[in-house]
Amino acid sequence: MVENEVRLLPDDDGSWQLEAYLRRNGYQAARRALTTMSPEAVVAEVCKAVIRGRGGAGFPAGTKWGFVPKDAAGPKYLCVNADEGEPGTFKDRLILVRAPHALLEGMLIAAYGVGLRTAYVYVRAEYAGLAARLAEAIAEARAAGFLGERVFGTGFGLDVVVHLGAGAYICGEETALLESLEGRRGQPRLKPPFPATVGLFRAPTVINNVETLAAIPQILAHGADWFRGRGLPKDGGTRLFGVSGAVRRPGVYELPVGTPLRTLIEVHAGGAPDGRSVKAVIPGGLSAPVLLPDEIDIPLDVDSLAKAGSMLGSAGVVVIPDGTPMLDVLHVTARFYAHESCGKCTPCRIGTSWILKTVNRLRRDGGGPADLDHLLRLADGIRGRTLCPFGEGAALPIRALILKFRGELEQAVAR
Ligand SMILES: Cc1cc2nc3c(=O)[nH]c(=O)nc-3n(C[C@H](O)[C@H](O)[C@H](O)COP(=O)(O)O)c2cc1C
Repeated sequence: MVENEVRLLPDDDGSWQLEAYLRRNGYQAARRALTTMSPEAVVAEVCKAVIRGRGGAGFPAGTKWGFVPKDAAGPKYLCVNADEGEPGTFKDRLILVRAPHALLEGMLIAAYGVGLRTAYVYVRAEYAGLAARLAEAIAEARAAGFLGERVFGTGFGLDVVVHLGAGAYICGEETALLESLEGRRGQPRLKPPFPATVGLFRAPTVINNVETLAAIPQILAHGADWFRGRGLPKDGGTRLFGVSGAVRRPGVYELPVGTPLRTLIEVHAGGAPDGRSVKAVIPGGLSAPVLLPDEIDIPLDVDSLAKAGSMLGSAGVVVIPDGTPMLDVLHVTARFYAHESCGKCTPCRIGTSWILKTVNRLRRDGGGPADLDHLLRLADGIRGRTLCPFGEGAALPIRALILKFRGELEQAVAR
C-alpha cells in the first residue's frame, strides 16, 4: 500500500475539507508552480513524469497539454471528465468524496501550464450529491484565494464550473462530452481535429480524467523522477484500482502502476471468497477483453495489458467466479452496448443491436457454432468502422468472451 501522506485517497475523516487538505500540504505544489515556474517548465515536468491518462485511453497527460497551441487568440478550456460511466469503475467518485481539493489543485496546475482560465467539470448525473460537495470545495478554494482572480497574488486566475450530465455512457467519450457541454445531444465528433486544437466552443481544449488531474500535484510537489519511480519508467505513479465481483474485500486500492493483477486480486482484495475460485477477470472496465485465470500474472500498466490483447482502461477490475454462466456475461455485455450506442455510426448502432438480438435468440431458442461465428462477424463489422472508440469497446469484449469460452458457450446453446 502507498504511504498515507502522499496518498490520493487519505484515510482521515473530513479529508475533503480545505483545512484537512492544507494540513497535508495542499495547494503547496500549485503555489510553487504558479509563483516560481514558467508554464513551459510545468508542462515539461508533467511530460517527464509520464503520467498516462487514467480515464481509459492511457495517453500521456503532459504530451496532450503540449498539443494546445500557445499563441492561440481567444479562450482555451479545461474539461474534467467525471462521467465515470465504464461498468466496473468507481474510483473517481472517491476522489470527489474524499479529495476534491486534490482535483482542484491539479486543475489549477494544468490551467496554468496550458494558459487557460476557465474549467468545466462534467459530472455524471448519478453523482449529483458529489457535484454538490465539489461545489462546496470550489467555494472554499475561492474564499481562500486558490481560485478566481489573482491566485496566490499572481496575475493568473481560474474559474471552475460544475456541469451535470444526463445519464449517457457515450458522454464520457471526450468529443461527445464536448457536444453535451455545448447543449447538444451527446454524440462523438470526427477526429481530427483533436480537442487540443478545436474543442469546446471550437476553442483549444484539454480533456482529462478526474484521477489524472488529482495526481498532478504529487508531480509538482515531489518531482517527475520521484513520480515515475513510484510506477514504471513509461507509466509513472500510482493508480486507483477498483476491484469488484468475487473477492473477499472489494474496493478501491491505491497501488504502484505495474503491480501484478494477481497481487491486486489475491493479496489486496483477499482473493475469491471461501470455496470459490476465479473463472475470468475483466481487467479495465467492461470494454477490456476478458482474461483467463492463467493470464493474470501480468503487470497492471497500459502497455502490458495492451500487449496481452486487453486494456487497462479505467482500471476497474471485475472478478468473475466459477459457476458463472458465460452466456449470461455475454448477454449483460451485449445488452449494455446495444443500450448505450449513441446511434450516430451505423455499424455500431446496427451491429450492437444485432449482437444483442442474436444473444437473446441463443438464450431463448438455443443454437450452434455457426451462431457464435455470426456473432464474431458482427463484432468484426463494428471494429474500425466508427467515429469513436465505443465501437472497439463494444466489439472486443464480445469477441474475447466467444474466443475464450467457446466450448462452454457451444454447450450452453446446444439443445
Ligand atoms: C465510450 C467511451 C466512454 C468513456 N468514458 C469515460 C469516462 O467516463 N471517464 C473518463 O475519464 N474517460 C472516459 N473515456 C475516455 C475519454 O474519451 C478520454 O480519453 C479521457 O477523458 C481523457 O482523459 P485522460 O487522458 O486523463 O484519461 C471514454 C471513452 C469512450 C470511448
